[in-house]
Amino acid sequence: MSGKARGSDPGRERAARTVGAVSLGPMVPLRVRTQPSLSPAERDDIAAFLELAMQHDGARLNDHLLTDLNHGRTDGFWAAIASHDGSIRGYAQASTANDGVIVGCVVPAGDHSTPALLLRALLAELPASTRVTWWSSDASATTAAELGMRADRRLLQMTRSLPIPDTSDVAVRPFRVGVDEAEWLALNNAAFAWHGEQGGWDLATLQQREREPWFAPEGFLLHEREGRLAAFCWTKLHSGASLVGEIYVIAVHPQFHGLGLGRALTVAGLQHLQSVGAASAMLFVDADNASAVGLYRALGFDVDHADQSYLRPPQGDTP
Ligand SMILES: CC(C)(COP(=O)(O)OP(=O)(O)OC[C@H]1O[C@@H](n2cnc3c(N)ncnc32)[C@H](O)[C@@H]1OP(=O)(O)O)[C@@H](O)C(=O)NCCC(=O)NCCS
Repeated sequence: MSGKARGSDPGRERAARTVGAVSLGPMVPLRVRTQPSLSPAERDDIAAFLELAMQHDGARLNDHLLTDLNHGRTDGFWAAIASHDGSIRGYAQASTANDGVIVGCVVPAGDHSTPALLLRALLAELPASTRVTWWSSDASATTAAELGMRADRRLLQMTRSLPIPDTSDVAVRPFRVGVDEAEWLALNNAAFAWHGEQGGWDLATLQQREREPWFAPEGFLLHEREGRLAAFCWTKLHSGASLVGEIYVIAVHPQFHGLGLGRALTVAGLQHLQSVGAASAMLFVDADNASAVGLYRALGFDVDHADQSYLRPPQGDTP
């Protein structure tokens, strides 16, 4: 499931500042600084660090955060960088989303102390009235508790091999850039009104995705019914040694739920992915999204792993 970029800065000072230093063993003094924006050179350094972390440990920021980083977002954006001798040792980011701020953190495997440092620095930048969601793993429960955050949503990554035996003859057509945006946004926001990252998208959020190198209209399938958009399946092809296709976002307008469109569009998306060479498919889904998890299980997807989110509720909310 993807993320989004929207909303205003809850309001903090916008200058870069160093928030502390810690020693990781006697020889490794680590400096942590927070920034409200990043220069292109800083973004390149962080991208290189994240690429290494991905290759070595499979560690990654979620799609929402990564898109904001790649596009140099400056509003509703905070970065925290841990470095030693100018070399990045950890990165955390906060970005405004549909129902608050999303936070992610990447450090080398086995480093259990830097996440708390980075997140503490980021949380200090965010007003207490802001709802903050940190996407991490079960292993982060102790750090989350130290930071006053509690376990909240679980996100499943589900996978299956391709090709699939199922077929779909539902009528679909590719998304038309410059034409379909308004109607697609209305459908997406109606289907995901409840969702922390996928709901409340605006045109800028969608256009950001259209500029991504992976964006391919022929893999963004729309279904019309009664003269309007009723459902869509947006796919994403990941490059690599073996091509992996993602069901990036799928939704059926609430008025058309339960009619078989979700299944038909997912199958159409998978058929597209296998036609462009994908050997396997994956997707992310909230563990408590019973209809979606039921649909994916029925199509042969199994859970690969789960990410856990931790919540700092807005001040004034009951825990
Ligand atoms: C998830 C969603 C796409 C399903 O679309 P749909 O058209 O209502 O689903 P279908 O009618 O094609 O049902 C297909 C299968 O889904 C499962 N399913 C659907 N609704 C379900 C429910 N309420 N509980 C459990 N399983 C359910 C079943 O396995 C069903 O198969 P069956 O018909 O053999 O029982 C739709 O509910 C939706 O758009 N939700 C909001 C957006 C969203 O959550 N997208 C997925 C994000 S990962």
